[in-house]
Amino acid sequence: TTIYLKDYTPFGYLVDSVHLTFDLAAHATRVTSRIAFRPNPEASDKTFFLHGEDLKLIRASIDGADITPEITDKGMTVVTPDAPFIWEAEVEIDPGNNTALEGLYMSNGMYCTQCEAEGFRKITFYPDRPDVMSTFTVRINGDLPVLLSNGNPSGKGEGWAEWTDPWPKPAYLFALVAGELIAHPGQFTTMSGRDVELNLWVRPGDEGKCDFGMEALRKSMKWDEDVYGREYDLDVFNIVAVDDFNMGAMENKGLNIFNSSAVLASPETSTDANFERIEAIIAHEYFHNWTGNRITCRDWFQLCLKEGLTVFRDAQFTSDIRSAPVKRIEDAIDLCARQFPEDNGPLSHPVRPESFQEINNFYTATVYEKGAEIIGMLKRLVGDEAYSKALDLYFLRHDGQACTIEDWIKVFEDTTDRDLSQFKRWYSQSGTPRVTVSEDWNDGTYTLTLAQHTEETPGQSEKLPQVIPVAVGLLGQNGDEVRATEVLELTEAEQSFQFTGLAAKPVASILRDFSAPVILEHDHTDAERAFLLAHDTDPFNRWQAGRSLAQDTLLRMILEDATPGADYLDGVLAVLRDGELDPAYRALMLGLPSQSELAAALFDRGETPDPMAIWTSVETLRQATAQHVQDLLPRLHSETLIEAPYSPDADQAGKRSLGNAALALTSRLDGAAMAAEQYAAAGNMTQQLSALSCLLRAGKGEAELSTFYVQWQHDRLVMDKWFALQVGMASPATTADVARTLTEHADFNWKNPNRFRAVMGALAMNHAGFHRADGAGYALLADWLIKLDPVNPQTTARMCSAFQTWKRYDADRQDLIRAQLTRIAETPDLSRDTTEMVSRILNA
Ligand code: ARG
Ligand code: ZN
Repeated sequence: TTIYLKDYTPFGYLVDSVHLTFDLAAHATRVTSRIAFRPNPEASDKTFFLHGEDLKLIRASIDGADITPEITDKGMTVVTPDAPFIWEAEVEIDPGNNTALEGLYMSNGMYCTQCEAEGFRKITFYPDRPDVMSTFTVRINGDLPVLLSNGNPSGKGEGWAEWTDPWPKPAYLFALVAGELIAHPGQFTTMSGRDVELNLWVRPGDEGKCDFGMEALRKSMKWDEDVYGREYDLDVFNIVAVDDFNMGAMENKGLNIFNSSAVLASPETSTDANFERIEAIIAHEYFHNWTGNRITCRDWFQLCLKEGLTVFRDAQFTSDIRSAPVKRIEDAIDLCARQFPEDNGPLSHPVRPESFQEINNFYTATVYEKGAEIIGMLKRLVGDEAYSKALDLYFLRHDGQACTIEDWIKVFEDTTDRDLSQFKRWYSQSGTPRVTVSEDWNDGTYTLTLAQHTEETPGQSEKLPQVIPVAVGLLGQNGDEVRATEVLELTEAEQSFQFTGLAAKPVASILRDFSAPVILEHDHTDAERAFLLAHDTDPFNRWQAGRSLAQDTLLRMILEDATPGADYLDGVLAVLRDGELDPAYRALMLGLPSQSELAAALFDRGETPDPMAIWTSVETLRQATAQHVQDLLPRLHSETLIEAPYSPDADQAGKRSLGNAALALTSRLDGAAMAAEQYAAAGNMTQQLSALSCLLRAGKGEAELSTFYVQWQHDRLVMDKWFALQVGMASPATTADVARTLTEHADFNWKNPNRFRAVMGALAMNHAGFHRADGAGYALLADWLIKLDPVNPQTTARMCSAFQTWKRYDADRQDLIRAQLTRIAETPDLSRDTTEMVSRILNA
């Protein structure tokens, strides 16, 4: 069944309070609920339907009178009084056998929950929809030392604890944790002087991985006060680390639950990239307390209301406490790698979808990352001051409500007097707009003509022009900026902008700071790109110039058998030599477009991408780059030799990132000899893992792989890296075999999503390996998706997206992929999650 946005109606009843009692038992947990309902005066449909799935009903009553309702696999409909009433029910659930990791489940002997989006209905009967909000009181009975739920503690004794959450919330924010956990404590005093007790709860053995997460939490709390004026609103804030978790983390009110990979960190076990990601996720979940929890979503179609805004806020946070240009470049890389393929393939959907079968399939790069880009464009269009005013109004007007994108847009219209109806198309039109550029120079006047076009996407054949903020600056022939950055508003299919009074024809730097999530088509020559790479005053576009130059170089190598051009090689050399440039930025400059992006670029040009030819071009360009910058490499690598004690801060991390990029190039010249030395001497995971990856890439590292295994066998998060790295670094011919062999390893605990993704995710990401011509990669992934589906539909469905780009490839590969997708689709009892994904991928 498909659910439609247009069918929204409010629930017939309001909930005044929820009291829950949990009697914990691994295979027979009893959940007793006592809920005060009253008719909703705003609703015309008074059907009393309560969601409920996989629940064994023990008893139910209304106002004390027992009832025997008819139950379907979705829930129950009951006739109720037309007046306030008390609903009571007792159900039994089996957390010990809940492998889907949705609802109440167990992970390493610990009870935990994941209710977003629709998991609460697996805990008890309830109107499980985000616009039904209530205060919750929760009593937990169980003989485990730590018993946690949302809100503030309100009672405690031998074998029980009670929690009261004073803030009305939807059921998806409910959480419960019980286990043998150790607290890593912290403290925060809010801007109005209230004391908040902080705890990071972990399993014994993980105590040494908490410092960084706690500090990140305190920084986030302070930042949200300073920048958004948002104060925390409970006496305690708890975070729990869980090993078995489908996603990154969850913002449950006052009790955030995290995938342990998204919170636990230590220098010995985590890379610099892990630290940065953890800091961002902790901030993200904390920021949800206002954008998500205090103001939530009316229905799941509005998911981007909280996710887009919260991703935007966590990106602002990272930019503020690290480097803004580096963060912007990282986000652009991520958008091109994950969102563009989604937006331009069979899974394309609007940032606010209009229909779905399984909402868990819409926690996507489009909803999150494109959703965040929309907020960034809005801020750029209205200006920083108006943005702040609009946000103040949003918090003031909508606190305690379940809102829509219309509410969000309205606060901007009301603070700026702008008509944002055309801008709103960003939420309803799917597909990535392509902006083409043409230029004219005439007698001191430079004319820039921009045209926009969006290809048709599933369900949307006609596209209207969108409002695209295009930040532009002009450079003079000597490299000076002759016009500072200005935001052009492209609102029509085609529009011209004039710059007058110029002495000579300028070089335009277009889409500075990646001012809109579009594909820019600008026929620059290599020389112009090299000029921008050398001179652009906008750090993002300077990086982008290098990226485009690299891409054009690679495409010519693939299509025309060209050799790597001097413009690219000399440009990179000059950047690497420039000691004034941030090391992190120089490291990013060394990056190349991914092989999957090159495949997309070829497909866009009407060519059929050949994965092996793409792989070869990248290897050749890497080799040529290593030779070209050879003399600089020892000095660049020495950046990693930091005297000070290890710190994951942006400064040190940037140096290591440049040093390790130099190591990767060096390994192409010295047979990975220097990498072997670095591996032997490494005192932190960043150094150890980058050295190991160079060794593997060079076809070496057998011995190191074994010692790594012995050293880290006890650490699940490090073992995930051990699994992923072997698949990621395997050669195209062996990737599928390496992955298959690893699935036979005793430590391949495939029911753990992190471990499953370590192998299968790395397989799908190894472009040439996954697309091996005989289809071995496709078949292996399909085998495992079929095996995982009955156990964990959510993780299975997410990984189906590995096949979303299948129509780019040649007919033989398409046949092979179609056969695998069909095999999955025809599996008996396939989950709703996977069914929806496979049919969208196949049928678009
Ligand atoms: N709201 C969470 C976050 O963005 C994501 C939880 C999604 N979980 C799911 N099963 N769909 O931080
Ligand atoms: Zn979120």
